[in-house]
Amino acid sequence: MAVDDDVTLRVEGLKAFYTSKKGLVKAVNNVTFSIRKGESVGLFGESGAGKTSVALSVLGVFDQLSRYYASTSANVENKRLWKLKDEARKKGLTSKDMGEELPGVDGHVWFQGQDLLTLDEKEYRRIRGNKITYVPQGSTKSLNPYSTIEEQIGEALWAHDEDSVLYERAVLHRVLKALDLVELGDAFLRKDMKPSQFSVGEDQRVLIAMALITNPQLMIADEPTTAVDMGLQQRILDAIQIVREEMNLSMLLISNNQGTISATCDKVGVMTAGHLVEFAATDVIMNAPSHPFTRAFIMSNPSMEVIRKIREKGLRIRGIPGKPPDPANLPPGCPFNERCEFVQDICKQKIPEYREVEKDHWILCHRYEELPEW
Ligand SMILES: Nc1ncnc2c1ncn2[C@@H]1O[C@H](COP(=O)(O)OP(=O)(O)OP(=O)(O)O)[C@@H](O)[C@H]1O
Ligand code: SF4
Ligand SMILES: [Mg+2]
Repeated sequence: MAVDDDVTLRVEGLKAFYTSKKGLVKAVNNVTFSIRKGESVGLFGESGAGKTSVALSVLGVFDQLSRYYASTSANVENKRLWKLKDEARKKGLTSKDMGEELPGVDGHVWFQGQDLLTLDEKEYRRIRGNKITYVPQGSTKSLNPYSTIEEQIGEALWAHDEDSVLYERAVLHRVLKALDLVELGDAFLRKDMKPSQFSVGEDQRVLIAMALITNPQLMIADEPTTAVDMGLQQRILDAIQIVREEMNLSMLLISNNQGTISATCDKVGVMTAGHLVEFAATDVIMNAPSHPFTRAFIMSNPSMEVIRKIREKGLRIRGIPGKPPDPANLPPGCPFNERCEFVQDICKQKIPEYREVEKDHWILCHRYEELPEW
């Protein structure tokens, strides 16, 4: 498939299924979106919606992780499914070709003209942590308490220097530059410090510096500000913005916080029950959402602006009724049908088509045209 030159990442028809004793856990279902060069796209949605699973799939580690969890259980059916998956992969076949839904990742992840899902682990390693970098969820725990900041950031660079052409001085220069980019003051002095001598917010910025040192084309940041207070959140988000502009970096930012998404993203994909239900410019999603789930999710955890709007309209803040569906047992039809106030029979029978309803505005809903104005 031809992907436009100005697209950094195109995720297409992505599925990612875990195995469990209840059967396949459908964490990601048919997700499609693109990130253009220099663009920041947010993945926004409730806990368990599949946001991290999308990131792990793009990074090429979802299969390894889900297979690892499967190997720790003695479930015979799951072992059979993984075996079948291996056969399919060897032959370059999909679940559809095999006539059975299989665990792991399926679909396409286009990056620089290549479908990453066809790469073997050795080829993937040239891209992961190098051209595509990751700031994982709950990540300050992933810093090594015993090594200095310089050693840890530099390590990210050494790991990808296959020809050993980098000299120590060049590494030091890049470490200092990365620390400077995330605005960690006194970089030259502080490079010799260990994580315990930093605040949580500073550790988070060190992790972002680590993700930047290889000059990536795409940075994936999973909930980069959850562990820190409001003041620091803003400083971390500012640091991310500065870096993005300076490096013309594309970004996939995962968060269930409206403020974080609004402050950093050009576009947003909204997820529930493993499905991308709406994708549009951030302003459209936050101020004029269309999909019933997006509306309900924003109402359930409103920003100050949304609270003002809700009050103006004489409405009240309320949570989403009911629970998200179990991804091991999704309802037929629309993934939101059990909780949607606009549900009709068709919604329980047929999964909606993911369609572009206006330029760059995609939606997964049978009833988009009939929904009342927000
Ligand atoms: N190892 C696993 N085995 C089986 N199911 C899993 C596993 N890890 C995650 N899941 C399930 O996959 C679904 C998607 O999880 P994921 O972590 O991608 O959601 P998320 O949107 O990132 O949530 P959060 O906002 O809480 O981080 C959830 O229902 C989760 O329970
Ligand atoms: S398809 Fe139906 S159930 Fe799903 S969001 Fe639209 S109106 Fe609601
Ligand atoms: Mg997550």
